[in-house]
Amino acid sequence: MSFLEIRDLSTGYGAIPVLQGLSFDVEEGETAVLLGLNGAGKTTTILTIAGLHEAWGGSVTFDGKEITGRDPKRLVAEGIVLIPEGRHVFPQLTIAQNLRLGAWPYRKDRGGNRERIEQAVEYFPRLRERWAQMAGTLSGGEQQMLAIARGLMARPKMLLIDEASLGLSPKLTHTVFDVVRQINLAGTTVLMVEQNAGVLKLADRAFVMEKGTIVYSGAGADMNSADIRQAYMGAPA
Ligand SMILES: Nc1ncnc2c1ncn2[C@@H]1O[C@H](COP(=O)(O)OP(=O)(O)OP(=O)(O)O)[C@@H](O)[C@H]1O
Ligand SMILES: [Mg+2]
Repeated sequence: MSFLEIRDLSTGYGAIPVLQGLSFDVEEGETAVLLGLNGAGKTTTILTIAGLHEAWGGSVTFDGKEITGRDPKRLVAEGIVLIPEGRHVFPQLTIAQNLRLGAWPYRKDRGGNRERIEQAVEYFPRLRERWAQMAGTLSGGEQQMLAIARGLMARPKMLLIDEASLGLSPKLTHTVFDVVRQINLAGTTVLMVEQNAGVLKLADRAFVMEKGTIVYSGAGADMNSADIRQAYMGAPA
């Protein structure tokens, strides 16, 4: 049994179907990547996994338990943590306050939270430099770092990251991908949604999605990103 098993998942908005029998597996300790063009259903997929969008049919099994339709807060406690598209940090709060809010489920474990904050600012030293700055005044890249760092405060077993590289410079994209790799090496299973095929460098496993189904899957190392880009991403190689 895989760590995350998606079976025949279907859902949509109103009467319009988006996911039409989606199935894939992520193994414990892996970094998996879900690629696809705009509107393919990537965000819908991870929102449904995280319990933030209702499934019409099919199932999501995590760590041996069926979790389809569970309360999202309970899923966070089980270790499924989503870093949503568009960052969604609290703009009127400082970096420090955003991180403390991320650690809310573990507020009694001050020592554990301190360690995690230390780890997060080691991953992203920029956050330490801007510690008391309001999140709304951070650059887009800094907000993305904060969003990831805040997700880590919730002690994920499985991190779902929606388009972390969106709007970032190539250099910052590299930084963010590198940190995700370190987070994974430290033991967290990762499922990343991306349109940037550069992410394949990190991927143990990759899935390409089109119109709500998986049209290609393979080991990350076997997927030449130029080929993928040409065949599935609608961009020149
Ligand atoms: N709240 C909503 N109400 C109605 N339709 C929606 C809603 N959210 C998404 N959709 C539709 O569902 C389809 C899949 O959207 P989704 O956001 O999952 O795609 P995506 O692969 O994440 O795309 P992108 O790369 O642009 O983020 C699209 O056709 C979109 O218009
Ligand atoms: Mg999306």
